[in-house]
Amino acid sequence: MASIAVCPGSFDPVTLGHLDIITRGASVFDKVIVAVLNNRSKQPLFSVEERVHLLKEVTKDIPNVEIDSFNGLLIDYVKAKQASAIIKGLRAVSDFEYEMQMASINRKLDEDVETFFMMTNNKFSYLSSSIVKEIAKYNAHVGDLVPEVVENALKEKFSKLR
Ligand code: PNS
Repeated sequence: MASIAVCPGSFDPVTLGHLDIITRGASVFDKVIVAVLNNRSKQPLFSVEERVHLLKEVTKDIPNVEIDSFNGLLIDYVKAKQASAIIKGLRAVSDFEYEMQMASINRKLDEDVETFFMMTNNKFSYLSSSIVKEIAKYNAHVGDLVPEVVENALKEKFSKLR
């Protein structure tokens, strides 16, 4: 049976840190589904459609990666996709407590689904979508933090908002 993993997140927008985790996950699992949470209670910079589009662009050369979005509980989505694993990236100890809570609740909801943590490449340990947005908002260079297509999308978005 093919091993399918879901890599969930907000991806607002996808960073080089995310891409590192997705790429490495795709070398371990037969298929990785990157799933963008459609969370109406948050105020994202990019719409779900825009985030899905950017993810598709940056993963187009990885054949076993699929991009999708989901609503509701992650564990229900994982089961609907017949996946057996969740992949998450860990940047620092500060991520650990929240991620452990999420992994524990997901295990309680369905003990057949495993959460796999991957340590983010050290060069991205400080990186987050929020930091990228903060820097890009003030027109600073983000070219070494996000793929080029995302850098351009950030420039366009903030030039419209200014
Ligand atoms: O990139 P993020 O914002 O850290 O991703 C968080 C995400 C999407 C992985 C998490 O919020 C999530 O799984 N949300 C779906 C709702 C859910 O299943 N919550 C856990 C049980 S309460």
